[in-house]
Amino acid sequence: MQQYSEIILIGGGLIGLSLAVELKLRGATVTVLSRDVQEAAGLVGAGMLAPQAEQLPPGPMLELCLRSRALYNDWTRKLEEITGLDTGYWPCGILSPVYERPPCTRLEATQDTPSYWLESEAILQQQPGLGADVVGGWWFPQDGQVDNRRGLIKILQRAAQELGVKIVEGVTVEKLVNSPNKIITEIQTNQGNFGADHYILTAGAWSGQLLSIPVYPRKGQMLSVRVPNPIQTLPLKQVLFGSDIYIVPRRDGLIVIGATSEKVGFNSGLTPNGIEALLSGAIRLYPGLKEFEIQEFWWGFRPETPDSMPILGQSSWTNLTLATGHYRNGILLAPVTAQLISNWVLNQQDDPLLNYFRGDRFQVL
Ligand code: GLY
Repeated sequence: MQQYSEIILIGGGLIGLSLAVELKLRGATVTVLSRDVQEAAGLVGAGMLAPQAEQLPPGPMLELCLRSRALYNDWTRKLEEITGLDTGYWPCGILSPVYERPPCTRLEATQDTPSYWLESEAILQQQPGLGADVVGGWWFPQDGQVDNRRGLIKILQRAAQELGVKIVEGVTVEKLVNSPNKIITEIQTNQGNFGADHYILTAGAWSGQLLSIPVYPRKGQMLSVRVPNPIQTLPLKQVLFGSDIYIVPRRDGLIVIGATSEKVGFNSGLTPNGIEALLSGAIRLYPGLKEFEIQEFWWGFRPETPDSMPILGQSSWTNLTLATGHYRNGILLAPVTAQLISNWVLNQQDDPLLNYFRGDRFQVL
């Protein structure tokens, strides 16, 4: 027998859960089919909210990321009110130290995107203890972070449950069944068939296994260390974003270090090469952390697309919407994705920005 819901989210990671909460708050009946939330990219990253530190060029992707960053405060507050839990949202700013002085020390800035070049003395005042070969760096005061791993994703799960979203874990989607008139009629899974009026694909790196869309896994390995006596001193009070390495200090003394970027398909696990690169990059940038106690290692798969931009909005099937391929910016883009895709699915409200993210830009749908 088919299990029915108004809207089904195919994928229970950060994007699927953010959408489920938003759609439910707007009155829809929602079911989330999740294969294994432990593998979600949203649980893997460091939670940087870094449109400026990532140095995205001006254009629709930067605009989308800045819009989402601007939503973060209210979005996390709303989730905290629903659940009574702390997301760890911290608009702490991001410092981007460099080892070679760039030819130009001015970046295009607007009122919403201030950025400052700091010479070597100034950067050491901003962040004592940086590596000896840092020659200066950028300060992006409006970038920040959220505690995705211990906070956000668990809070989204809790919020979804409290609001009455049905989350079915352990579901492997086997097939999207469609009719000749381009409608998905049901989905076959290892737990039976599910049907809905509308489906949203939020399966991250696994999306390409369900539909012919160019979304590929890009592996990242990560680790964390802990500051001794964080109550006495917190040596890092902002994110450090170096070249190929970032160091993200949480307010309780945990420090997350990431991440490798490997084209190895779904090859799972940690490698000595990967961890060595993270440790040497992090110690070069902030030598003091070589004495900190290691807490944990983990890895996961970012959903990459050919142009590194997500795939958002309508598909070739009338009742299937796409919200996937967020690559390096899924945690940042969760609130704006939830907002724009809910507007589209519930009210057919097509934000002009969505046009840049349509799946048919790749000509393979
Ligand atoms: N957002 C940073 C990363 O994907 O490593």
